[in-house]
Amino acid sequence: MKIAMIGTGYVGLVSGVCFSDFGHEVVCVDKDPRKIERLENGEVPIFEPGLDLLMNKNVEAGRLTFTMDLEKAVTGADAVFIAVGTPTRRGDGHADLTYVMAAAEEIARVAKEYVVIVTKSTVPVGTNRQVGEVVKKANPSLDFDVASNPEFLREGAAIDDFMKPDRVVVGVQTDRAAEVMADIYRPLYLRDFPIVTTDLESAEMIKYAANAFLATKITFINEIAALCEKVGADVKQVSKGVGMDNRIGNKFLHAGPGYGGSCFPKDTKALARIGQEHAVPMQITETVIKVNEEIKRRMIDKLLDLCGGSFNGKTVAVLGVTFKPNTDDMRDAPSLTIVPALVGGGAKVKACDPQGRHEGEALLPGVTWVEDPYESADKADLVVVLTEWNEFRALDLKRIAESMTTARLADLRNVYSPTDAERAGFVAYESIGREG
Ligand code: UGA
Repeated sequence: MKIAMIGTGYVGLVSGVCFSDFGHEVVCVDKDPRKIERLENGEVPIFEPGLDLLMNKNVEAGRLTFTMDLEKAVTGADAVFIAVGTPTRRGDGHADLTYVMAAAEEIARVAKEYVVIVTKSTVPVGTNRQVGEVVKKANPSLDFDVASNPEFLREGAAIDDFMKPDRVVVGVQTDRAAEVMADIYRPLYLRDFPIVTTDLESAEMIKYAANAFLATKITFINEIAALCEKVGADVKQVSKGVGMDNRIGNKFLHAGPGYGGSCFPKDTKALARIGQEHAVPMQITETVIKVNEEIKRRMIDKLLDLCGGSFNGKTVAVLGVTFKPNTDDMRDAPSLTIVPALVGGGAKVKACDPQGRHEGEALLPGVTWVEDPYESADKADLVVVLTEWNEFRALDLKRIAESMTTARLADLRNVYSPTDAERAGFVAYESIGREG
């Protein structure tokens, strides 16, 4: 199969690389010359474990190329995937479809023979039908189908998620398009992964419903965690006991400082907007959005309590600023709420993150960056574990406590336990959803 992938952002690049690893001939297209240059030089512009190796392997095998020339990529392609950004539109919370529609129009202008135009970007219900109309208008004689193929991979685990998905969702209108999509995913079929074939609108809705449900699950356990702290329960034990019920499942029940990232915040907001537009308010999702903001702010109160009511003059070590480990992504990370509150309150913040420094320097003014967690804790009054990078999971807590001015630990990812902290000599320890 020949595939063109429009957009070399997170989803586009990972999908393009993985499709080429299936044996397909993939051309990735991007408008950004610097990005294409870097990719051609074998450099991956994002941080994703294993992606560079897989990319370069397939480039060497001659199955994967990069170009700015959309026409060249689309010519002869069996399927063209649209994997461009759909950011939240300023002002009204809608997903901004400018890039998706522009890509559809460009594809229509250069395509000459039957092609399936597949949307991989997360788009509001009805978008694929609209893509079809845009294409028809731009090139009325073109023989084509549209397909919706939402992506469910997670940053930091993207290759594994793509190669071993729980399911692949394909929304189509014709058998012909379904066959092309089946051929593309055939390598997964052979490994017996379930493919769910639906109509266009259902495929689009599955993506929003899945992300909103996961965001709800996290927010639910975060709220339970807040109550656990008051009643003396331990949220780790609670989530274990709850998650062992197969109907609930044990994933996404890890309490923390609130969900972030490029997907859950954006997709919950977009779903809420779609509901409002159709006069079916998504009340649960709307509440989740609100509660998640409150959870992030509750973290600030937690830190304030630990600091005796004021951040002024305190030195605070922040371990982790990315929204989760194994990524350099800081979009909607809890650090963007918490760190400015520390700096604004007069604290001296020393931050450390294995991949987040580059973005962090731009997004978190007033912060001093260090490479080593021990260095950040030196003479600090408080250490905050904000992202559960492996590097922060097995710290020598005694060494840290001894180097601090006042040994206080805020473990916002429940990596350690009250006993660990006490044994190491911390005078104060706060975590999520358990006393002390
Ligand atoms: C999420 C979904 O998990 C993917 O299935 C989906 O494809 C992706 O969005 C997308 O729509 O593109 P991602 O945002 O990469 O993936 O990261 P997750 O691992 O889902 O984490 C999201 C946020 O939830 C993070 O801030 C994480 O710290 C938080 N989280 C996750 C928790 O606080 N607790 C948990 O138990 C799980």
